[in-house]
Amino acid sequence: MPAEVAAPAQRLFFALWPQQELREQLARLARDVPARGRPVADHNLHLTLVFLGNVTADTRNCLGAAAAELHVPRFTLTLDRPGYWPKPRIVWLGASRIPDALLALVDGLNAALTKCGLTPESRGYQPHITMLRNVDRPQGEIRMQALEWKAENFCLVESSNETNGVVYRILNSWNLD
Ligand code: 2AM
Repeated sequence: MPAEVAAPAQRLFFALWPQQELREQLARLARDVPARGRPVADHNLHLTLVFLGNVTADTRNCLGAAAAELHVPRFTLTLDRPGYWPKPRIVWLGASRIPDALLALVDGLNAALTKCGLTPESRGYQPHITMLRNVDRPQGEIRMQALEWKAENFCLVESSNETNGVVYRILNSWNLD
């Protein structure tokens, strides 16, 4: 038997996680979208900052240490821009104006990735909350009431595929300044 058995890699991402009140508002909007699809479970609604993929325990520790050193101010994100992407077949909610602090947070996390030996995503960052999955084509224009998100912290989250579907588990969270 080997002296050391490598811990299995975890599928991870950094995200903004909505507080309960906002989560309930988002869940109501997702249920009311006039499109046939599967609304994302209330407790799974989030906004991805940086997707990491499968990560070893050492890399996770490195990322956590780098995240703890980031200094980014709190910000308000106005969620006022719904849309549909046909390839992943999702209806999403995003923002027509992206706060500088959100971009600074994503840049800081991408720098942490590089420091920890990972390669940041080359596609441009498109902040969005996935609201419905498996949507063939929405009937007509998608409208949603605008919501304000006062972002006060960010999280490292694990994604696992379980028998009842995907489960997200918050592993760590750090306050914004
Ligand atoms: P999605 O909601 O648009 O599908 C957990 O899976 C989170 O990471 C989701 O927010 C998902 O975005 C995002 N994600 C999953 N795979 C990804 C990938 N290959 N690149 C970027 N983001 C990804």
